[in-house]
Amino acid sequence: MSRSDTFHPFARVLHWLMALMIIAMLFVGAGMVSTVETKHDWLLAIHKPLGITIFVLALIRLGFRLTHPAPPLPADMPLWQKLAGHASHGLLYALMISMPLIGWGMLSAGNYPVTLGGGLLLPPILPTNPVLFAWLREAHRYLAWLFFLTFLLHMGAALMHGLIRRDGVLQSMTGTRMPE
Ligand code: HEM
Repeated sequence: MSRSDTFHPFARVLHWLMALMIIAMLFVGAGMVSTVETKHDWLLAIHKPLGITIFVLALIRLGFRLTHPAPPLPADMPLWQKLAGHASHGLLYALMISMPLIGWGMLSAGNYPVTLGGGLLLPPILPTNPVLFAWLREAHRYLAWLFFLTFLLHMGAALMHGLIRRDGVLQSMTGTRMPE
């Protein structure tokens, strides 16, 4: 394993692709629960396969990240900021994996089919249980808010690095970081 100044191109592609997919998911989810029109079914039909795709990509990304270390952070960065960065990245990984699993589990507990389009149907991962369904439905909602918040903090930190500190951290993910 070697450490370079920028993230591996595969990690960068996954990062930006998943960022777009997650923003779309959060808005599709919020739009879906705020309408009872036919749009609801249409949005849900996007929400399920997109969420499962995020789950699969998150597992691939986690495996890649564990075998390909991130570029080092600037030496003059305060320790609390480094720790906050690591904690928020850990939380983002946890949410990318747990949100789809909770969505899948929620539908299983409610005895709803987890259709992915094109005739694809995922098996239930939990037994039918209305109480568990209600509980997971709430968990999915509160974690979605936490996801929104963590995403915003992550974007704020990226802009702080790119526009204020100008320390190359943002560029290590855009692939434009100059070697020191
Ligand atoms: C990264 C993945 C995911 C994100 C970010 C996400 C986000 C959201 C959001 C923001 C909501 C609206 C929450 C509310 O205010 O009540 C929602 C609802 C929902 N999600 Fe997800 N979700 C994800 C994955 C999944 C998956 C994989 C499934 C199912 C396979 C799923 C099924 C549902 C269902 C059934 C609802 C409620 C729909 C309704 O009550 O009309 N979600 N999701």
